[in-house]
Amino acid sequence: MDWGMKNRLAQLFAKDGNCMFLPIDHGYFQGPTRKLEKPGNTVAPLMQYADGLFVTRGVLRNAIDPATSAPVVLRVSGGSSVIGADLANEEITTSIAEIIRLNASAAGVSVFVGTDYERQSLMNLAKLVNECEDYGIPVMAVTAVGKELEKRDARYLALCCRIAAELGARVVKTYWCENFDKVVDGCPVPVIMAGGPKVEDKGVIEFVHDGMQRGAKGVNLGRNIWQHEHPVAMMRALRSIIHESAGVEQAWDMFNTLKNADKS
Ligand code: 5RP
Repeated sequence: MDWGMKNRLAQLFAKDGNCMFLPIDHGYFQGPTRKLEKPGNTVAPLMQYADGLFVTRGVLRNAIDPATSAPVVLRVSGGSSVIGADLANEEITTSIAEIIRLNASAAGVSVFVGTDYERQSLMNLAKLVNECEDYGIPVMAVTAVGKELEKRDARYLALCCRIAAELGARVVKTYWCENFDKVVDGCPVPVIMAGGPKVEDKGVIEFVHDGMQRGAKGVNLGRNIWQHEHPVAMMRALRSIIHESAGVEQAWDMFNTLKNADKS
């Protein structure tokens, strides 16, 4: 692996090998998602706890301070919307020149395995890897399920993650599920977890902890943080699991202490 690739991966993954990415890319198919209407305001208090920001070029240019020290994972697939015919019908939206111009530390693309657009989205990933590898830029594959949330089981997610790694993804983002070790064990590159729609507070802490115990290398977790009434408390509690090996009760106590101290 060349120095540039190693350096970018080292920006994204801390010395402990784990990462906490903050995704705010949801608007690329959902429009002004709740609490992300003004993404710059939403993420301002959270940026200091993020190891990477997963974002489209439009929000990056218009809402994020260029002086930020958080590395950027640029979302570079899109082309469909939540009210359109099929969310899986994506293409690559961004050139390699743009990825470099925006000083991205990685590029992220969705794959939709088992859909009518399986081949198209997997070829999006493969082509992006071909271009990004030339410049030492890691590609993160996002195993997307569209509206079919029930697809989130170990057998399906293991299949998606392995295929994404085989096509050259350096990191794979998927959903947590029961028996998450089956997903991680079949994937030769780091697997990180998304959050999905908002769940109950302790439930987030529990699934992130379980996933980390079963071999995940971190999270790319958005709505359960920035749609929360106390986003900083939730982010710091999750961060303690990822970077300080906190247990569920320890992280839960931290969350409640920070939440109770949050007068805003
Ligand atoms: C949306 C994404 C998000 O980055 C991913 O789903 C993580 O966010 P959340 O925790 O809110 O699910 O890829 O397309």
